[in-house]
Parts: sequence; structure tokens; C-alpha cells
Amino acid sequence: MAKAITLAEKTLDQTEPNPAVGALLVSAAGELLGEGWHERAGAPHAEVKALEAFDQVPEGATLYVTLEPCNHQGRTPPCTQLLLQKKVRRLVVGCLDPNPKMQGQSLAYLKAQGLEVVSGVLAPACTSLNRVFNKHITTGLPYVTAKAAVTLDGKIATALGQSQWITGPEARAFGHRLRSQHQGILVGRKTLNQDNPRLTDRCSPHPRQPAQVVFASTGAFAYGLHFLDPQPQRRFVVVGNQAGKARLEALEAQGILVLVADQAVPDPKWALQQLYRQGLVSLLLEGGAGLWAGFLGQNLIDRICLFVAPKIMGQPAAPGFAGDLGALGLAQLPSFHFGPTRVLGSDLLLELFQRKEDVYRLD
Ligand SMILES: NC(=O)c1ccc[n+]([C@@H]2O[C@H](COP(=O)([O-])OP(=O)(O)OC[C@H]3O[C@@H](n4cnc5c(N)ncnc54)[C@H](OP(=O)(O)O)[C@@H]3O)[C@@H](O)[C@H]2O)c1
Repeated sequence: MAKAITLAEKTLDQTEPNPAVGALLVSAAGELLGEGWHERAGAPHAEVKALEAFDQVPEGATLYVTLEPCNHQGRTPPCTQLLLQKKVRRLVVGCLDPNPKMQGQSLAYLKAQGLEVVSGVLAPACTSLNRVFNKHITTGLPYVTAKAAVTLDGKIATALGQSQWITGPEARAFGHRLRSQHQGILVGRKTLNQDNPRLTDRCSPHPRQPAQVVFASTGAFAYGLHFLDPQPQRRFVVVGNQAGKARLEALEAQGILVLVADQAVPDPKWALQQLYRQGLVSLLLEGGAGLWAGFLGQNLIDRICLFVAPKIMGQPAAPGFAGDLGALGLAQLPSFHFGPTRVLGSDLLLELFQRKEDVYRLD
């Protein structure tokens, strides 16, 4: 199963809206007979590739899969039928599919068809592989990773608004790769106006450029922003109900989809629901502090990537990454679980998760 997990990891955060899955076919003598992983949505499932060399698997072979095989016709046929066709007799599964239509139904079906089924092997690691899928399929909301580059005292910009660059090139390159691993990037209007980010991945060898989403209550922007240039990525502006009609028409004329909330300041959860309907299942919130506060206040951040520079700002007027969360008592503070920490050049990356089961560990 550990080997199947490493296969699934090959396309981690690249298979949305599907899960990343790895599969192995092993003979009774422990010899590797086939392996597969799910490349991308619409491509064959991992089981299909692991079994493809055989019309019927050899006697005594075991199929290991990180996730319960599918039992329904989607863009590809059900894997349960393939297993029966190929005469798989023994199946070992990492974790159940949390899709409300599944949750062990495939395994019950296969057992009823006479297969020996073992499940729950390295389940925590297999579950955490698919934190994005697990979240969106059970809640109808995208998975939100929030990222920020901070000084040791948690500041994201100087008191005068200078933020480029707090961290070094290695941390920035990692931040670019995060963009390719998400389907959309979220930024607040003030960050857009002040930093004029391009919101693209310009570091990965094979970048997948995410959609760009700007939160701007009134839809008013500075002139000359990269965001307003024509570009192939989908672009969205989330506005409140006070935004002027002419402004919104001008944005739409540039191919930008405007999402108009019922409130003056768009409700973040409502915005996530709209973006999910647009097919976005994973989002990277890049700030600034105002947007962080809006999302943290509603418990909508699933994962945090905090790039910490070994510098101290020490300016009380400089903004911290979390924004103003109001006068919360200690018991009400948003809290997270630490995941892995890495050194990136002279900076540290702290990864944190809202749910403990999202912390990846191979145990
Ligand atoms: N170091 C880093 O990693 C990093 C990353 C990003 C940004 N920054 C820095 O952060 C600073 C900007 O941060 P900021 O806090 O001033 O502004 P911000 O978070 O970028 O933008 C806040 C604006 O977003 C709009 N908004 C719409 N709906 C919202 C909602 N539900 N909740 C919150 N905001 C909503 C509002 O626009 P309206 O005003 O139109 O109502 C609000 O004023 C800049 O100095 C930038 O350089 C640093």
C-alpha cells in the first residue's frame, strides 16, 4: 500500500475534481505484475492501468488500491465491473470513498460477488492524499489553501505597504508551484491594486494556470492592472450589491465573470458556493489580510502555507497576515494542526491544516 501511495502522489493536486489514486497488482509470490495511477480527470482510473496487461489476473494475485474502486459509470466505466471481468479474487483498499453515493458500497458489492476484501490499510495516509476531494465531495465547497509570506512577527507588508519581497526566491518558487496545484487564486481588491500580481505560475516546468478571482465590494480597480489584461485564464470578480452597473458591464465586456452577492461586502461562503458551481474545487487564497480575516472568521480555510522569513518587522502599524478577527477570547481563536515544515533557502514553510486527518503521514 505504501508503494501504491507513492504512485498516487505522482499526480497529487492534479486530478481535480477527481481524487489521486494509486494501484498495484502483486502475485501470490510477491512479484509486481502491474501498476497504475490516475493521471487526470477523464483519463483511465489507476485500477485500469494496473490490470491492463491481463485478460484475467493470475491465480492468487492481489490488487492494492489506495481508494475504494468506483461503482458507477462516470467519464469512464465502473472499476468494480473491470475487477470482476479480470477475475481479481483479492482486493486490499486503503480508504473508503467519502462520496455519499459510495462509502463502502463498492466493497460490499465486491464481497457479495465472492472477492476477499481487506480495507483500511494505511488508511490515514490514503485519506490525507485526497483532502481536496474529501472536502468538496462531502460539502459542495472548494478546498481553500491560504498562503502568505510573513516576517517572524507575522507581518505581510511594511506600515507603508511594501511587501515585495519578504521571502527569498526558493519560497517564491514554491508559492508559484502552489498556484499550479489549485484551480483558482483568490485575492482582495487592495492586494490587486497595491501589488498588481500576475497571478500565474511562472516557475513550474509544466504550469497549469489557475482561474483568477478578485474580491472587490464595489468592483472599482486601479488602472493598468495585469488582471484586466486579456488572458486565457478564466477571471472572476466577486462584488457586493452596491457595485455600479456600468462598472460591472465594463468588466463583463472584458470577458470577466462577475458574481454579485446579496450583501454590500460579499459573504465568503456564498462566494465559495458560486465558484464551486463554476467547477473550481481547490482555491489558493493569496491575501491580503482583509480577505484572510473574512475567510478565517467563517472557518473557511482548510490549509495554511506560511512562508516565514528570518526577519522582524517590528512596526505596530504593519498588517499581520490574519487581519482583524475582532476581540476573540483564547477559546474562540481559529486553530490548526501543524503539518510538515520545510526549509526553503533561507526561509521556512510552515504547513497547517484545519482537520487533523488532512495532515499527511505514512504510518
Ligand atoms: N506578504 C504576503 O504574502 C502578502 C500577500 C498578499 C497581500 N499582501 C499585502 O497585503 C496588503 C493588502 O491587504 P489588505 O488587508 O489591505 O487588503 P486585501 O485583503 O487585499 O483586500 C481587502 C478588500 O477585499 C475586498 N473584499 C470583498 N469581500 C471581502 C470579504 N468578504 N472580506 C474581506 N475583504 C473583502 C474589499 O474590497 P473593497 O475595498 O472593494 O470593499 C476589501 O477592502 C498589501 O500591502 C499587500 O502588499 C501581502
